[in-house]
Amino acid sequence: MNRRQFIPNTVWVWGDDGWMIPLHREADPEGWARLCDSDEAVITQVDEGARDMGAQPTSSSSAPSVMREMIGALGVEPGMRILEIGTGTGYNAAMLAEISGSENVTTVEVDAEIADHARCALKDAGFSVTVINGDGIAGYPGNAPYDRIIVTASVRDVPYTWVAQSAVHGRILMPWGSDLFPGGVLLTLTARADGTADGRFASTVAFMRLREQRPRHVPWRDDVDKGDYLQSTARAFPREVFKAGSAARFAVGTRLPGVTDGRTLNQDGGHTFRLSQFETGSWAAVTPGPGEHLVCQHGPRRLWDELELAYDWWLGSGRPGPSRFGLTVTPEGQRVWLDSPDGPAGVRGRGGGR
Ligand SMILES: C[S@@+](CC[C@H](N)C(=O)[O-])C[C@H]1O[C@@H](n2cnc3c(N)ncnc32)[C@H](O)[C@@H]1O
Repeated sequence: MNRRQFIPNTVWVWGDDGWMIPLHREADPEGWARLCDSDEAVITQVDEGARDMGAQPTSSSSAPSVMREMIGALGVEPGMRILEIGTGTGYNAAMLAEISGSENVTTVEVDAEIADHARCALKDAGFSVTVINGDGIAGYPGNAPYDRIIVTASVRDVPYTWVAQSAVHGRILMPWGSDLFPGGVLLTLTARADGTADGRFASTVAFMRLREQRPRHVPWRDDVDKGDYLQSTARAFPREVFKAGSAARFAVGTRLPGVTDGRTLNQDGGHTFRLSQFETGSWAAVTPGPGEHLVCQHGPRRLWDELELAYDWWLGSGRPGPSRFGLTVTPEGQRVWLDSPDGPAGVRGRGGGR
C-alpha cells in the first residue's frame, strides 16, 4: 500500500508570505510525489475548504511514522473492532484495516467532501472500511462496542460517548491538550468495568484540533484599549510557560481550562504576553520589563494570578513532565491528575456527558 493512493491531487504548502497555497499534482507531479513519499504530514485541506489560499490547515495525512507510533501504542490485533475519529485521507484507516480486517474498521469524518474522498480512495485500494460522515464526538454507536478507538485530531474535552462505546478493557488513544497546548500529548485510556476510563500521557505530538474544540480567544489588544482593567506588577515572568511544547506549559495548561495565549509586538520592539478565556471574556496582558513586569487583568477570572499559582504548583511538584500526568473520564466529565488517579487535580469537569 502506498500513501499516494490516498492523497488528493491538490495538497497545500506554506508560501513565503505565511499563507498556505495549493500545490496541484498536474502542475508539479514531482513535488506532489515527494510530499506523498516523505515522512511529513501532508496538508490536504485549509480553512475548511478554501480553494486559492488559506491560513489554517484543517485536514491532513499525518506523518507515517507518527501513525505507526500511534497504531503501535493502540495495540491493534487481527479481528479487533476499531473506531477511528478523523478519517482524513483514509490512509490511517487502511493501515488499521490491514491489521484488523476491513470489516472491523469504522471511521468518522466531520467534513462531507473529505469523507467522500476517503471512501473512494479506500474502495479503490481494496478496503471495505465503513466511512461515516458525522461528528466524531458522537462516536458511531452502530458498530459499538469497540476494542480500540483512535482519534487523529487533538482533543481538549474527552466525550463520554467514546468510553460508553468501548468494550471493557478496550483502549482509547488520542492526542490530548489544553488550550495552551492544542497540538496535544498522546494519551491512552483503558475502559473499566465500572464505566470509567483512565490512563497516562506519553509523548508530545502536533495534531490539528477537533473542529468544535478549537481554542477561542478574546480579541487581543481591543480590550486593553477599552480600559476597565486592574493594573499591578509582577516580580517574576515564567518564560518557560510561554515556550511552545514545554513541560511547564503542558502542566499549567491542565490547571487553566479554556485559557488561550498569544503575544503582540510593542513599539519599542518588546512583546506583551496575553491570556484570555472566551466564555467569561476574561483577559490578562503582561509586559515584561527590566525589573518588574506590568500586569493588566480584566473579567471574573484573574488569569495572570491563576497562571502564577499554577506555575508555583508545578515548580513545587518537582517540575513534572507530561508522563507523570494522567486523565480519568467518568459520565460527569474528565479529570487530569498528577502521579495517580487520587493525586492533585488539574482540569476538572469539562467534556463528558455527550
Ligand atoms: C489529521 S487529520 C486525520 C488524518 C487521517 N487519519 C489520515 O490518515 O489521513 C484530522 C481530521 O479530523 C477531522 N475532524 C475534525 N473534527 C472532527 C470531528 N469532530 N469528527 C470527525 N472528524 C473530525 C478533520 O476534518 C480532519 O480530516
